[in-house]
Amino acid sequence: MKNNIAMIGLAVMGENLAMNIESKGFSVSVYDIDSNRVTDFISTRGKNKNILATYSLEELVKSLEKPRKIMMMIRAGDPIDQVIKNLLPYLDENDIIIDGGNSNYLDTIRRSKMLMEKNIQFVGAGVSGGEEGALNGPSIMPGGPASAINHILPIFKAISADVNGDKCSEWMSTDGSGHFIKMVHNGIEYGDMQLITETYNIMKDILKIDFDEMSEIFNSWNNGKLNSYLVEITSNILKFKDQDNLPLVTKILDKAGQKGTGKWTAISSLEENVPLTLITEAVYARIISSKKEERVRANEFYGNLEIKSSVNKDEFIKHLENALYVAKIISYAQGFDLIKEASKTHNWDFNYSNIAKIWRGGCIIRSGFLNNIMDAYNNNPSLENLLMDAYFVNEIKERINSFRIVLSEAILNGIPTPTLSSALSYFDSYTKSLLPTGLIQAQRDYFGAHTYERLDKKDGEFFHTNWTGRGGTTKSTTYNK
Ligand code: 6PG
Repeated sequence: MKNNIAMIGLAVMGENLAMNIESKGFSVSVYDIDSNRVTDFISTRGKNKNILATYSLEELVKSLEKPRKIMMMIRAGDPIDQVIKNLLPYLDENDIIIDGGNSNYLDTIRRSKMLMEKNIQFVGAGVSGGEEGALNGPSIMPGGPASAINHILPIFKAISADVNGDKCSEWMSTDGSGHFIKMVHNGIEYGDMQLITETYNIMKDILKIDFDEMSEIFNSWNNGKLNSYLVEITSNILKFKDQDNLPLVTKILDKAGQKGTGKWTAISSLEENVPLTLITEAVYARIISSKKEERVRANEFYGNLEIKSSVNKDEFIKHLENALYVAKIISYAQGFDLIKEASKTHNWDFNYSNIAKIWRGGCIIRSGFLNNIMDAYNNNPSLENLLMDAYFVNEIKERINSFRIVLSEAILNGIPTPTLSSALSYFDSYTKSLLPTGLIQAQRDYFGAHTYERLDKKDGEFFHTNWTGRGGTTKSTTYNK
């Protein structure tokens, strides 16, 4: 009897996914470059299960039914190329390799092309949910050739999280699409985390609320519009005490780490011409945080503002909840905008409602409000921007004033609000039918004869003015827009 699927890489994610897959009735062959890991696994958690330990890639491949399905849960980057190269001599046409790590989608596009030429099917699958999700039900975002769907999706659906009977795995589109969607998921995760952190900072420094009460406030928000995994864990973190009974969070060094997916999201937004301001600010916020020693030196020059605030606490907490919610809507609108633009560049055919659907469970950004995003795209699959969906228009209109009140108070008191501020600035730009940008065009024309269009003439007609009386009258031919 041949096995259904293979797992390469028995670090915690690979092990837990293998256990999850086996528990859903599939037989699994496992392999790790470190043979001790294989032996440890098969003699402990993997014992008496439908799991076969193998000690070479050849043995692994031979143990599988065709077309072979081989999933890698290993470190992104070179190791992926290495394992693919080492697997190839043993594979047959139509076999399927799945990369379940946090690979860069551009690498996945490259690998898909290379493997397609060899008639090997390559699936880039984003997997979210950490160790616990891998074992009990992650959100899985696979992308690759349509011919692989029927072989892979039933397994991913079987092992993924369940939200009211909907499984948290759907086929995204071709080549790097699954890893792209996972990357945007991570970018949104960065944004959500930074937004929550700014809100906590405002609560702590302006309202001077103690940690147990802040925990309660986040807990109550988790029962409302802000219901989400990240708000829930924030509430748990804030009430968690160190051995001396002080909140542990106050002892944790204020330098954020990052592995790169947030940065990739920001980079791709520049390439796609999408103003992904909130997520990008969240990446910069982590970078600024990491420069602790420099910040300490800069603080010696400027010190801290004395907090002078006389806001009504209960009212302000309500404003804060509204501000966080509106900023979150704006962040997801930007994220989906990036997905839409990238889909044009890479010829990916996305079902936006499905993306929101599979993010509702299993993954780090899971939240109640993804139901509303799912509805928005169900109502209008070609929605231009979430900010133009009727439901979200109302939600924002009811709360935007709270957002302005919160930001004014934070700015007056010197509380950093990179993501909250960028969200409101984006909103105020995006919803203006007339921006002051005519001045930029005038400046470009003034110093470089770059020409401009006029509001009172038709689009595409370009004008140049001799602003100083000294310049020539010829238009720039190199720059037209
Ligand atoms: C997930 C997470 C995960 C990511 C971590 C760490 O969806 O399960 O996004 O894939 O690796 O959250 O990311 P940073 O170290 O960059 O914060």
